[in-house]
This record gives sequence, C-alpha cells and structure tokens, in this order.
Amino acid sequence: MTSTSFNDDDFSLVILSNINPERELPTDVYIHVDSKYIKFKSKGDQIGTEKYDYFLSKGMKNIYIPAEDIMTFLSWINDDLIEEESDFVKKAGEESRDFFKRGKDFKQKIYEVYFEDELNGKIVETLQDNVADFVDNIKKNEMTSKAIAFLMSKNSSVADHSLNVANLSIFIGMVMGHGHQFVLENLYMGGLFHDYGKLKIDPKVLENKENRMYSHAVQEHPMTGANLLRKTDGIPKQVLTIVEQHHEQFNGHGYPNSLQGDQIYDLAQIVSMANVFDNILIENKNFEKRQKYKKAIKVLEYDGGKHWNPRYMDRVVEALTLAYID
Ligand SMILES: [Fe+2]
Repeated sequence: MTSTSFNDDDFSLVILSNINPERELPTDVYIHVDSKYIKFKSKGDQIGTEKYDYFLSKGMKNIYIPAEDIMTFLSWINDDLIEEESDFVKKAGEESRDFFKRGKDFKQKIYEVYFEDELNGKIVETLQDNVADFVDNIKKNEMTSKAIAFLMSKNSSVADHSLNVANLSIFIGMVMGHGHQFVLENLYMGGLFHDYGKLKIDPKVLENKENRMYSHAVQEHPMTGANLLRKTDGIPKQVLTIVEQHHEQFNGHGYPNSLQGDQIYDLAQIVSMANVFDNILIENKNFEKRQKYKKAIKVLEYDGGKHWNPRYMDRVVEALTLAYID
C-alpha cells in the first residue's frame, strides 16, 4: 500500500457494503487512515471476502475512489445485477427469464440504505420495506426454512424470540449502513441462531434463576451454540462469531470472553441490540404496544457505551423511534 497526501476534493466516498467483494474492481480503491488516503487495491483486483468482512467488523464503512473515476465506479456497482442476469438469460432462454432473474436477484441484491442521509419517516419506511423484502426472500432459502422449522420443533418461545431478533437485526443493520445481501444473510442467520446453545440447557434449569446450575448454563450458551453450529455444514464463520459474541459488551463486562470495544464483531453488536430490545418487549408484554416500545428504545438510548459502541446509537435510536413511536 502506498501513502499519499491528496486532499479531500480528489476523492469520492463509496459505502463499502454496496460493493460485491468478489468482483474485479473497475478503478483503484483507497482507504482513509490518519487523515491520509492510502491506496488499498488497484484496478482489476478484488477486495476479497476476508478483508471485506474484517473491515466491516472494525466498523469501517467507507472506501474512497479517485474523484474523476467515481462515475465508472458507480455504474460498475449497478452493472453487477444486469451483467450477471443477461448472461444467465442468454444461456437459459427467454422462457426461463423470470425464474433465473429471481434466483440471481436473491444472490446479488444490494439494498439502498441511505447511510449518508439524515433519517426521516420516509427513509425509515423504505428501510422497513427493504427488511420485509429481504426476510421474504431469505425465508425461501432452504437452509433458513429448515433452521426455523428446527427451532420451532425444539422450543417455540426461543423460536419466536429468535425470529424477532433476526428481523430486527436486519432493520438495525440497514440503519447502520449494511446493504449487501452477503452481509445481511450472515446477520439474519446470526440472529436466528444466537440462542441455539440454550436449546441444550435443561428447561428446568433455564426457567429457575435460583437453580445452582443456572448462571453457569447461561454463561456457557454462546460457546455451546457456536460449537454445535461449527459441526453443521454450510454455516459461515461470521455466523459462528455472532453467536459466540452476542453477550459481549462494549465496556468489556460481557461474556464469554470479556471482549471490549472494537474487538467485538460489528454484526454481533447488532444482534446484541436486537436481543436486548426484544427481551424488554417480552418482559413488558402486558403493556400497550407504544409503551413497551418506548421502554425498549430508552434502554438503547441511555446505554452510554455499556453494551454497545456509542457511535452508532443516536442513529439506531432515531430509526427505532421513527419506526415504532412517531
Ligand atoms: Fe443469548
């Protein structure tokens, strides 16, 4: 990587999660570190999924493109869908067009998440529509539908909670700038499986906080869940990390590994927010809808860096308020 001293006018910002990490880049790509633009990839390189995920996990949301190349770059992002689709249609014939279009859309979709814009009711409504669209699609996926059926057969209250957490995680994820199908799928699966380890705990232990096994079992469930899922084919490692870290806290007082700050995976922090939020709704289930949402939002609003990275909270709280209160 070479360091340069361009000024800000020489570069345009692009949201990282709008990029397919496995496609060859149409222009050079820079990152912004310590007030310097540093060349990260050259035209023709790929970002690569490992690096891509690492950046997202560190809260890095943007990359930079030389200002004169920005139109080339943006049309490359939009071409992603069109090129792949026409290729498929050519091979498949016109009569199969819809079928393949649906299949490809599901794999390649990049949602507009308005991360650079100030939130308002209309944007939040669009994000909610995007969440509904994403969830509709992912439920058609064989692995997801099997996972949901399995959770339901084991414990319907864990299953209900897990579905709520998965859906809410997608909304919060979009609010925090994640628009790429690849990231959202991992986030959804992480939400769905976050309490998988609890299915292995004897319900008698789980229902009684006085039981001497209770706190041990609860402390163990993130690791138990991740270890069980590790043996299942096709579960991405990002999903395992979410399951393992969903009770870690930003201040380092969480479990099982007392990770702190940026050591915690970004997507695990999102599932953690959704988990706490849904638990408050469950605890207050007898309250009127608006009241219980108000209570849940307050907990996020006044967290003050205890559970979650404070740099995200204003936007998340504003989005939840626009979605459920205003
Ligand atoms: Fe949990």
